[in-house]
Amino acid sequence: MVKYMKLRDKNLNEITRELKNILALAKKYWVSVVVFTAMALFSTVFGILASLVSQSLIDIVTGSSKGDSILNFDSIYGVIGAAIAFSAFKIIFNAVCGRISEKIKIKINTEMTAEIFDSFICSNWEYTSLYSSGDILNRFNNDVSTVSGSVIGIFPTFVSKAFQFLAAFGVVFYYDKTMALIALITVPLLLVCSRFLMKKMHSYAKELKKVNSKLMAFNSDALLNMQYLKSFGLVSVFCMKLRRLQREYIKLNLDYNKFSLIVTSIMSFVTQMVTYACFGWGVYRLWTNAISIGTLVLFIQLYGMLSSSFSSIIGIVPTLINSVAASERLTEIRNLPKDDDLNEPEAMDFYESVAGKNLEVSLKNVTFRYHGEEEDALKNVAFTAKTGDFVALTGPSGEGKTTILRLLLALIAPGSGIVSLKCEEAGETISVSPATRRFFSYVPQKNTMFSDTLAENMRLVKPDATDEEIENALKIACAYDFVKKEKDGIYCRVGDGGTGFSEGQMQRLSIARALLRDAPVVLFDEATSALDIDTEQRVLQNLAEWGKNRICIFTTHRTSVFEVCNRAYIVSGADCAPVM
Ligand SMILES: Nc1ncnc2c1ncn2[C@@H]1O[C@H](COP(=O)(O)OP(=O)(O)O)[C@@H](O)[C@H]1O
Ligand SMILES: [Mg+2]
Repeated sequence: MVKYMKLRDKNLNEITRELKNILALAKKYWVSVVVFTAMALFSTVFGILASLVSQSLIDIVTGSSKGDSILNFDSIYGVIGAAIAFSAFKIIFNAVCGRISEKIKIKINTEMTAEIFDSFICSNWEYTSLYSSGDILNRFNNDVSTVSGSVIGIFPTFVSKAFQFLAAFGVVFYYDKTMALIALITVPLLLVCSRFLMKKMHSYAKELKKVNSKLMAFNSDALLNMQYLKSFGLVSVFCMKLRRLQREYIKLNLDYNKFSLIVTSIMSFVTQMVTYACFGWGVYRLWTNAISIGTLVLFIQLYGMLSSSFSSIIGIVPTLINSVAASERLTEIRNLPKDDDLNEPEAMDFYESVAGKNLEVSLKNVTFRYHGEEEDALKNVAFTAKTGDFVALTGPSGEGKTTILRLLLALIAPGSGIVSLKCEEAGETISVSPATRRFFSYVPQKNTMFSDTLAENMRLVKPDATDEEIENALKIACAYDFVKKEKDGIYCRVGDGGTGFSEGQMQRLSIARALLRDAPVVLFDEATSALDIDTEQRVLQNLAEWGKNRICIFTTHRTSVFEVCNRAYIVSGADCAPVM
């Protein structure tokens, strides 16, 4: 029992906490929320006025002597005129509202997507790398739409429906107090139901989103690895796997649907019973000549309005719960540890005072463990490289070479020890941080060309690079020969869906891009692994010439790389020992 209570509280606490976040967003966009509310209220007033007009119309036509209409029309023409005017106005009003609401919705949706994108992209790499791209895309698209929709949708719906309920109730009450009280019976019943619903819906909503993300991740993985799938004859395996995931998705959806249907059926049954009671009462009043036919029709319409507004208010619960579940997933992204740029000014000063002088990068007693792992990836590692050094980090795969480069780039922070940049001439030392990335250039282990022209890819690292500078970098990386054969030269397309280049060619393009950045420290992560020995030799010779006044750090398994290096370390068993 205690455990159940705790679970229940946790669930409700989560919901309340997230509701506060949604409310904070609604506050941020309060002007839009007010506009939406005003539009919804206007449309409610129209509905009630239209009902009153039809009451007058029926009473005039049936020549009822009661004359108890709130609206006083002298002739049938007046009523018809009013009805037509109402309809025309409503059509125009709806069109205007549609336009305004679309503008507001697009604005809020895109702003929120950008905010979440920024938040994710500014987060610490170690944490962002834990997410699959499918999951993140799902959050950027679906969860943002759900939350932004509810931020501007829920409050206006609540206010207008509550207003509709009260106004309809007021009119019914004005005519017939007993009828009003009968109509009110539904309220406590439905409220009890919806409270019970909340928790169950919340867990369904969370599960559904998880499965959705899993599906997206599966799709993006399959699309990225098409070549692998086909060559290993895995097409049918993947087709089956998709169907298995879809079955999971369908089952969860249908379970949720069954649960909602049972609940709505119970609610509808209650509402229906009350409708009959109201209708019976109205007919009795008409029979006893207490009300006119017009008023009975008005009652029926107003009761419809009462129950539909109340259902809409209850219907907010699932929408809200769904957006609570989506909002939780966005909050998770917002709360990821961020790359801190606190020492940006310090790094800037350092950058200026060491310009053109000799540098030294070092790791001192660095221990590092990846988030959630049981063992250290690096233990008490020490490593130094000075301007003019060509350093090789070698050793078995999976022993921490790439991890050392990530530490230098401050993609990850050491658990203990110091990773720093030093300039003896200037007498200054600075610990690496996101702000010191300006000192580095990097050739990652995997292809990271973006789907754009080659020139645009190159200018990512140096926006003002001239065509000549780009060509020069390509020449050093031995890439110009094949680029110049392309129809558009350096303006040919590369990356996802672009012109096909071989892995070895892509590596050379990546190297060229790193050179163009013109940084004092260049990190090559198995950058020549896909090149033939001859080309590799030529690239390395060019680099030896180009990098004389820089620090070049290579991770490699190839002895050919050692030939251009003046120092080497073996990275093994979480250790990093010098061998030359
Ligand atoms: N993002 C990560 N999350 C958790 N563990 C990781 C991650 N990247 C690498 N590792 C682990 O850290 C160790 C060193 O990896 P890495 O530096 O990539 O090796 P190398 O580049 O020498 O092949 C490996 O055991 C690997 O499993
Ligand atoms: Mg590696």
